[in-house]
Amino acid sequence: MKPGSFVTFEGIEGAGKSSNISYAEMLLKNSGKPVMLTREPGGTPLGESLRELLLGHQHDGMSFKAELLLMFAARAQHLQSKILPALERGEWVICDRFTDATYAYQGGGRNLDSAVISVLETLVQGERRPDLTILLDLPVEMGLERAGQRSAPDRFEKEKLDFFERVRAAYLQIAGKDPQRVKVVDASLPLEQVQQQIKVVLAPFLESA
Ligand code: TMP
Repeated sequence: MKPGSFVTFEGIEGAGKSSNISYAEMLLKNSGKPVMLTREPGGTPLGESLRELLLGHQHDGMSFKAELLLMFAARAQHLQSKILPALERGEWVICDRFTDATYAYQGGGRNLDSAVISVLETLVQGERRPDLTILLDLPVEMGLERAGQRSAPDRFEKEKLDFFERVRAAYLQIAGKDPQRVKVVDASLPLEQVQQQIKVVLAPFLESA
């Protein structure tokens, strides 16, 4: 059985990940691919418990290094018990955030050393990386305005504008370094135009898979 492809979606808050992930799922299913949707932090019982600790407010003073390690703890479980088995079964895995989010939020946002993140990445993932990453990019003010219309802010959403500017810049830097894997989509445009870009980015993948 040919292994499936590993597709991740990234972006700051309010970039429109949920609706665009549903759209990508629909495109893949329409072309006959088996798809598994999942998210980080989360995706497994342990990961979802860690997500509650990471996003909730019961540990508002969490150290940035503890935050980093919990992200990778959730990821280790997620890869072993959910992502890798699905890929081996030949499924396409669409993951709402993955390690690029750690480089962007803990590296860019929290100013933790990306060399340390890279060591943890290798420990947890070995050589495994997403086959395709769609970065939904838009100005921070626009994203926060959209996100602000949703429920009460979580521990990350409470951060200030300059935090998200660093997150966005880190994401764009990752895309600049790895343009083959990371495709930047302009998420400030109306939804139909964003979807059109996603269709274009996925097309060669669907053809070659
Ligand atoms: P969301 O995926 O529902 O938008 O929320 C997850 C939050 O967790 C988001 O603010 C980004 C943050 N996050 C990190 O800081 N580092 C990570 O490695 C991941 C996966 C998420």
